[in-house]
Amino acid sequence: MKIGIYGGTFDPPHLGHMEAARTAMEQLGLDRLLIIPDREPPHKELEGNAASPEQRLEMARLMADGLGPRAEASDLELKREGKSYTADTVEALHEEFPDDELWLLMGTDMFLTIQNWYQPERIFQYAGVAGFARNHEDTGEMFQEQCEYLAQRFHARTEIVHLPKIVEIASRDLRRMLASEWTGGNVDPAEYLWPPVYGYILREGLFGTKADLKHLSDKHLRAVSWSMVKAKRLPHIKGTEETAVALAKFWGVDPDMARRAAILHDCTKYWELEEQVACCDKYGIELDELERVSVKFLHSKTGAALAKYVFGEPDAVFDAIYCHTTGKPGMNTFEKILYLADYMEPTRDFDGVEEMRKLVWEDLDKAMILGLEMTIDELHERGLIVHKNALDALDDFRRKVQ
Ligand SMILES: [Fe+2]
Ligand SMILES: [Fe+2]
Repeated sequence: MKIGIYGGTFDPPHLGHMEAARTAMEQLGLDRLLIIPDREPPHKELEGNAASPEQRLEMARLMADGLGPRAEASDLELKREGKSYTADTVEALHEEFPDDELWLLMGTDMFLTIQNWYQPERIFQYAGVAGFARNHEDTGEMFQEQCEYLAQRFHARTEIVHLPKIVEIASRDLRRMLASEWTGGNVDPAEYLWPPVYGYILREGLFGTKADLKHLSDKHLRAVSWSMVKAKRLPHIKGTEETAVALAKFWGVDPDMARRAAILHDCTKYWELEEQVACCDKYGIELDELERVSVKFLHSKTGAALAKYVFGEPDAVFDAIYCHTTGKPGMNTFEKILYLADYMEPTRDFDGVEEMRKLVWEDLDKAMILGLEMTIDELHERGLIVHKNALDALDDFRRKVQ
């Protein structure tokens, strides 16, 4: 197996890092990529407003998640006391993966000076080194000479990774840019950040950002919500947002509110059961026996609680998110729209979805009946318990439509 090692301060990780990582995975044919935030970078002193090591690890995790299943963040260097020396890291990884081929990824400047690092011969003993080439000059003579020199002196294996798309930004400038959003700056840091990383920065108030969680713009709310879920869920959340807004406009309810409800509806989907239950206890949300043991039911309650108490959304948003999994008797148009958008947004694929996609523009109650029937049938087939609210909601809609 070919394993890439991508170390750095990642304070914060930006789209330049992600683009480089993605290109390296492709060009070197990596089976795995370890993203390793360093503890005390030997090359530079961290500034006062730097994120904590745990926060940098969390941002690295969000970046890895965005790079797909082959990438993961590692706390190898953060766990180790003292200076982070690359030689120690590659040796530790060689011990962990003795049969695998290690490749250390690095930027141009580092690649051209690696012979001056701490014990470079130990680095080359355990890993090949791949340098990111940013432009034509990099890939020319200078890189070639360095490759030959390293091969001669250290018997080094080297590769050049050509970056097709250059994202010109340094973390230091990005930190300034992030702070300036609150002091009248007119640059948009979102252009350089993977949205979940941006959302995490806003949530934690890093680098001088001062987002008021109760009054976030749509863009900021989206980033914050996306920072709480796995990347694989994002297409569904985006699809639900688009669909809910379109349905709201069509059926004459507030599209902005529909947008915000959709953005937040699954934000607690990946919380552990314990965290879910604790959140319900905190906000006085009563749970029945079935709900206490099922994240599927709990995430709608905790998502609603966060929408209202953390993000300051109105009761209508709370109510719609609260019943988006099971439905309930007496649903209003807004609630039906979130339920149905969640059910039939463009990434959903199941038997009957096309019929539902037609019905939502003709009759919301009939679409609800179809959705509830399909859900209940499926649960029965799988031998799972159906929530009482779903059965009551179905009765309620059937009575209305008769
Ligand atoms: Fe959900
Ligand atoms: Fe959903």
